[in-house]
Amino acid sequence: TTVVADTGDIDAIRKWQPIDATTNPSLLLKAAALPAYESLIKTSVDRAISQSSSQEERLSSATDYLAVSIGCEILKTIPGRVSTEVDARLSFDTEATVNKARKLIALYEQNGVSKDRVLIKIASTWEGIRAAEILEKEGIQCNLTLLFAFVQAVACAQAGTYLISPFVGRILDWYKQKEGRDSYAPDEDPGVISVRNIYDFYKTHGFKTVVMGASFRNTGEIEALAGCDRLTISPDLLTELANDSGDLTRKLIGQRDQTAPIPEYITEK
Ligand code: E4P
Repeated sequence: TTVVADTGDIDAIRKWQPIDATTNPSLLLKAAALPAYESLIKTSVDRAISQSSSQEERLSSATDYLAVSIGCEILKTIPGRVSTEVDARLSFDTEATVNKARKLIALYEQNGVSKDRVLIKIASTWEGIRAAEILEKEGIQCNLTLLFAFVQAVACAQAGTYLISPFVGRILDWYKQKEGRDSYAPDEDPGVISVRNIYDFYKTHGFKTVVMGASFRNTGEIEALAGCDRLTISPDLLTELANDSGDLTRKLIGQRDQTAPIPEYITEK
């Protein structure tokens, strides 16, 4: 299992030193308030104002510039790849999603970053999956997010997407509310069960699409999915994992030798 940091917070990324990082619009909005990003916000807004005519275009361009500049900052710190998400308002428009993905990749390339270091995050709607199918053929690799159901995972694999992010916590949130229950043991957690089913199906049928569990609510869910290809984890839950005397962390990364040191990429700096 590869541990991925689910954050746009550059300080958290420096602290945890993950291989890869994932962002989304709400994580970027939260991160944008950090002093470290003050000048990036100014540059992004100034550039959007000078190049776009309508207010709507300016907002959209400023958001793209900021997402890519934060992505570039993250890539200076990590050895792997960053996921940058296409605006969810485009989720039901294949052509608009493809165009936005191409624009984001072009912006990365203008900043000297190869497309091989970026995953374009796209909602796993029918239109989003069709967009990913087109982009993958162009060599733009995608991370299909907002994936809650087995059928979405099957379609993503058949479309040849590089990676999926099946959600755990948001499925749990739904069941908690629907069934009026406060807690679920990890093995009966419907989000955990969903990701296990998807993972087993992919491996049974030899699909190459990478499975990266996402949207975690507690470390029990993370432990229950130890062995999955990748898990993207928030800094708060990484802190809880690191405080867990090491056993949970070792199990997570498949390290069965309890005497071995915890690998560096999950050790707090
Ligand atoms: C990662 O790909 C997702 O954007 C993230 O894990 C979503 O988590 P949330 O359900 O807490 O918003």
